[in-house]
Amino acid sequence: MPDTAMTRRRFLQTSTSAAALWIPASVNSYTHQEIQDLYVDGSMQANVSKWELDTPSLCVDLDALEANIATMQDTLTRNDIASRPHGKTHKSPTIARMQLDAGAIGICAAKVSEAEAMFQHGIDAVLMTTTNVTATKIRRAMNLRHANPQFIQATDSEQNARLLSEAAVSMGITADVVVDVDPGGHRTGITPGQPALALGQLIDQLPGLTLRGLLCYDGGSQHVKGFAARREQTLERLLGATDTFDLFNSSGLSTEIFSGGGTGSYNIDHETRGLTDVQVGSYVFMDAQYMDIGGADNDELYADFVPSLTIMTTVLNDQYPGRCTTDAGAKACTINRPWPRVKGEIGMSYTSGSDEFGTLRYEEEPSRTYKVGDKIELIVSHCDPVVNLYNNLYAVRGERVEAIWPIAARGMST
Ligand SMILES: Cc1ncc(COP(=O)(O)O)c(C=O)c1O
Repeated sequence: MPDTAMTRRRFLQTSTSAAALWIPASVNSYTHQEIQDLYVDGSMQANVSKWELDTPSLCVDLDALEANIATMQDTLTRNDIASRPHGKTHKSPTIARMQLDAGAIGICAAKVSEAEAMFQHGIDAVLMTTTNVTATKIRRAMNLRHANPQFIQATDSEQNARLLSEAAVSMGITADVVVDVDPGGHRTGITPGQPALALGQLIDQLPGLTLRGLLCYDGGSQHVKGFAARREQTLERLLGATDTFDLFNSSGLSTEIFSGGGTGSYNIDHETRGLTDVQVGSYVFMDAQYMDIGGADNDELYADFVPSLTIMTTVLNDQYPGRCTTDAGAKACTINRPWPRVKGEIGMSYTSGSDEFGTLRYEEEPSRTYKVGDKIELIVSHCDPVVNLYNNLYAVRGERVEAIWPIAARGMST
């Protein structure tokens, strides 16, 4: 039989057989759809390694994720303060459920669409930490409150509180509200003290609203380098909120909720008198930004939590000395700094400035070099915006892909 006939017959055999995949020996990989087809009734029907994923793809290491959730919950329980993790980080109802099962009292959402997505996927206890100011968003928030009695929303001005009240009354509902207090960064929130008290008193009187307390998140303190400096700033910046908490109490207003804090201050926040819960976000994944801030035990490296979120990328070009090019650039990694880190390797640096391409540069005595088709695993720069770039998260135990989790609130930015 001539060669061409044989080739044609082989082609027909393999192209009609569903199980036959063309996998060149050097670049073993499955498409997302192929892996999705192997994931039946919540379990993987085959052994797929994270190194076989089509790239760029986003992975979470289950051992690290579970350890992070346990460490956070244990520490907060020991410090007698609750956790209300922020869903803006993972945008995943699956991870929110893990956090609630571990003992969290609720989940935070940054956007009304994020809160809707959580609710649609079974997460009811949601506190939205951003104020809704437009008629559209207020209507959506009230619709959500109508469907979900556990939804709580923030407000930071008298004008906004009146709009919330009007909307709630017109829909025949009562909406639960907390006052967002500014820690001094002037990003959101009302001035602590008398202005915040006046807003609390107004909410308490307005029809259609129930005041549940206050929140005060100080983003500016979370990444302060060195534990002592971070502790000092965190406690100082929350003093105004504690004054407000005292004013609410002495005026008979609810302080059932006094929420604040994050991954950088989780083991400091219990020292803020009155604070009921910590809105920790990044700790589930960790990232290069947080690893740099230093912890209570080690001023250089923040090792309280383990990096669990990684990007798998493939080398596209190895022809030039001192470097190689990968398929994970800004659209896979963002351009946040510090740049992603190559997991488990030393003597190399990575940049993701080009849209579709990443650059790996070898420095002195790199722990290894790469050739075309090799896979590289990256620790992300800043977890929240990276998660928002992917539809799915591959949940990996050891090397094996154990589950595929949809990032249900991905792109929910309205
Ligand atoms: C209002 C609010 N709460 C909590 C968090 C979580 O912070 P972190 O990721 O530092 O734990 C954020 C993060 O930006 C936030 O904006």
